[in-house]
Amino acid sequence: MKRSKISELLHSDTLDKTVHIKGWVRTFRSNRFIALNDGSTLHNLQAVVDFENTDTDLLQKINTGASLSITGKLVLSAGKGQRVEIQVETLEVLGESDPDIYPLQPKKHSMEFLREKAHLRTRTTTMSSVMRVRHGLAFAIHEYFNKEGFYYMNTPIITASDAEGAGETFRVTTFDLDNFPKTEDQKPDFQQDFFGKAVNLTVSGQLEAEVGALSMGAVYTFGPTFRAENSNTTRHLAEFWMVEPEVAFADLQEDAQLAEDFLKYIIRYVLEKYPDDLALLENRLLDEEKTKPAKDRNQLALREKLEFIVNTDFEQITYTEAIRILRNSKPHKKKRFKYMVEWGIDLQTEHERYLVEKHFKKPVIIVDYPQDIKAFYMKQNQPDAEGRKTVAAMDILFPAIGEIVGGSQREDNETKLRQRMQEMNIPEEDLWWYLELRKFGTAPHAGFGLGFERIVQFVTGISNIRDVIPFPRTPKNANF
Ligand code: 4AD
Ligand code: MG
Repeated sequence: MKRSKISELLHSDTLDKTVHIKGWVRTFRSNRFIALNDGSTLHNLQAVVDFENTDTDLLQKINTGASLSITGKLVLSAGKGQRVEIQVETLEVLGESDPDIYPLQPKKHSMEFLREKAHLRTRTTTMSSVMRVRHGLAFAIHEYFNKEGFYYMNTPIITASDAEGAGETFRVTTFDLDNFPKTEDQKPDFQQDFFGKAVNLTVSGQLEAEVGALSMGAVYTFGPTFRAENSNTTRHLAEFWMVEPEVAFADLQEDAQLAEDFLKYIIRYVLEKYPDDLALLENRLLDEEKTKPAKDRNQLALREKLEFIVNTDFEQITYTEAIRILRNSKPHKKKRFKYMVEWGIDLQTEHERYLVEKHFKKPVIIVDYPQDIKAFYMKQNQPDAEGRKTVAAMDILFPAIGEIVGGSQREDNETKLRQRMQEMNIPEEDLWWYLELRKFGTAPHAGFGLGFERIVQFVTGISNIRDVIPFPRTPKNANF
């Protein structure tokens, strides 16, 4: 008999027929009521055992975490809390779970505890809801770009370039670290390594996505990226997934418009398709916030916050305006910012949060950043009246998250790009092809990168980025 998914049965109108299900025991009450979950939905299906006519041996194996195969009649439930239930006819224990040592008890566990049990934590309601919403967002991303005529492009994971030029890359080598070939000046001789040159894991697929845009018109990547930055924060991973659209003939304004439209679309999508998971996550967040001082709590519940984002025009300001607002702000005047505020600084989290959460109270797009704090490939603007140099960059800041999107119009002038690379000591050898894109049929183009885990964090209301990816990689942690 074909196995039914619990998600289907919970809404089924075909009652009093025998059905077949498999899943894992969440709880077993009164020797009678099994709450079975198969991952197809947040909800469990209740299976009722006729314990008087069931072997005691078998009953004793129905423990939290055990996997079962059940057939029985799907009937309307007489009890409260569920519409339908299964009257068990046959029950087989596929895999036992010793209750004395199974780590997940039917009670609330802290996110920190569950992180140590990453191989089991997707069996909890919270984590399985996060994973379903994560899936929904990924699907919506592909749907959005497909609908808008973008091609999905796969860019290399092993590369010789450091796209962001921040020097935070993981080296990839097959050298024996105890004994590797050296050059005359005692450096590793990568000419003798697997690829014949020094390579690393990619920090971004952007440079290759530009190749795609300048031939296919509009492309997007959606892949893993790696950064060896030693930031132990709730918003940084060493391995994270990034979505990077790139569009030919687009300028910074079109890029910003695309990003806003895209973010609203994917949030709207999960609001529509994952109402139960979001309701559960909303309640979890409300519980978590009860432990915080009132001033640190969100004013809106999770789904209200998402609705608000979908229905609100994002604010757009220049970096120069942002600095002016910050310098005129109360926390600056009362010296409550930890970091100083003056033109040229990289905005710190405290500054971004002030702008988004206190001043504008909505998502903010900051454009035209100082050239000196941004990557080499960004389009150079005309210097301002005071001669300060900026680039056509944009960051989108979200409440609680801070920077969720970073993007720019790209420098399409070969001379200017080469000049900037020289100023920043970026070697041309590995990027000759990138420069040639500006030699043959160059065109204005722009794109951005969305940190996938950051949007999953925002949508699920989960405070630590380690809890929105199945197996987080962070400094000193690569378990599982
Ligand atoms: O701002 P970033 O560094 O921009 C780029 O990599 C560009 N090449 C994107 C482009 O224009 N195509 O990174 C983009 C986004 C950030 O806004 C942030 O959301 C996320 O990636 N991000 C991280 N997410 C998790 N952990 C980290 N360590 C992250 N670093 C960046
Ligand atoms: Mg950035």
